[in-house]
Amino acid sequence: MELDSRELRNALGRFTTGVCVISAVSEAGQPLGLTANSFASVSLDPPLVLWSLQNNSDVFDVFAKPRYFAINVLAKEHEGHSGRYAKKGDHLLDPDHFRPGKFGAPIVHDALVSFECELHATHEGGDHLIIVGRVRDVQTREDGEPLLFYSGNYRNLG
Ligand SMILES: Cc1cc2nc3c(=O)[nH]c(=O)nc-3n(C[C@H](O)[C@H](O)[C@H](O)COP(=O)(O)O)c2cc1C
Repeated sequence: MELDSRELRNALGRFTTGVCVISAVSEAGQPLGLTANSFASVSLDPPLVLWSLQNNSDVFDVFAKPRYFAINVLAKEHEGHSGRYAKKGDHLLDPDHFRPGKFGAPIVHDALVSFECELHATHEGGDHLIIVGRVRDVQTREDGEPLLFYSGNYRNLG
């Protein structure tokens, strides 16, 4: 059966996810953020997580091989962050939106949780690169609700 890419995209969108901003500092010292919902946990021991980066991203070189990066899980009030850091070629982080983490990766203020990771491995995954990080630090907010993404739209719990 030949798969129609639009149908496949719609089918995949029936899986509800959270929304993250992946953050890293470029070699030129610029803090960048990119909206992603491909985050997944991989392993508890060692502590590994992953996300997938489009091969054709304008910022591929920055996000494909940073020594440290952070996965910031957005709260429901962060829909604006999600839209802002999903703009093509426009990923500079607003200084009001983050602080440096223990290992230098940008940590997004008031994220539900931020996983600061050291690059562990990358794997080819078709038109994406699978990026596996070893979690080095976790910053968790006590309260708050997640921003959800389902069928191409943002949702809230309940
Ligand atoms: C909800 C949502 C989830 C996304 N998830 C991913 C993702 O997992 N991986 C990815 O590379 N891009 C993802 N994107 C797309 C990027 O955020 C962004 O739109 C894209 O990187 C823009 O192109 P550029 O990288 O060439 O600037 C997502 C966008 C949205 C709105």
